[in-house]
Amino acid sequence: PKQHTLAVIKPDAMNQHREEILEEIRGSGFSVTQLKEMVLSREMAEEFYKEHREKPFFSQLVEFMCRGPCLMLVLTKENAVEEWRATMGPSDPDQAKTTSPNSLRARFASDILHNSVHGSSNEQQAEEKIRFIFGDICAELTGDGE
Ligand code: CMP
Repeated sequence: PKQHTLAVIKPDAMNQHREEILEEIRGSGFSVTQLKEMVLSREMAEEFYKEHREKPFFSQLVEFMCRGPCLMLVLTKENAVEEWRATMGPSDPDQAKTTSPNSLRARFASDILHNSVHGSSNEQQAEEKIRFIFGDICAELTGDGE
C-alpha cells in the first residue's frame, strides 16, 4: 500500500540544491502529491518542531527554519516514510558521508543543523505534519475522507 510522508527542503538548500533534490525525489520513484513554497513564521516553526522543544539547539533550529523559504512536499510511495529517510541519510552529514555517501545529506548538508532536508520520522508524525502544513487534504490522501 502507498504511504505518505512530509518532506521539507530547508532554507540552506533552497538556492543551490533545490533542483537536484527534486530530481532525486522523482528519480527515486516518489510521487510529489502536494507542494508548497513558504516562509515559516517563528510560531509555525516552533509548532512544527515542538518534539524538540527541550533540546539545546531548539532556538537555533527555529531561527534557521524561518530565515527564508522552505519547500514543503507530500511524497507518496510504498513505504514512503522509511524510503525518504534512507534517501536523506543521517542528520549529521559527517556520519552521512561515511555510512551513506550517496544520500542527500552527505551531498548537500553543511552541518547537523543546516542539513538541507527534513522528513517525518514515522507514519503518525507524517500524518500530523502533513495536516499542519497542508490542512485537511489528509483525508483525501488516505482515502478515508469520503
Ligand atoms: P530534522 O531531521 O529536521 O529534525 C530536527 C532538526 O534539528 C534536524 O533535522 C537538524 O536540523 C537539527 N538538529 C538535530 N540535532 C542537532 C544538533 N545536535 N545540533 C544542532 N541541530 C540539530
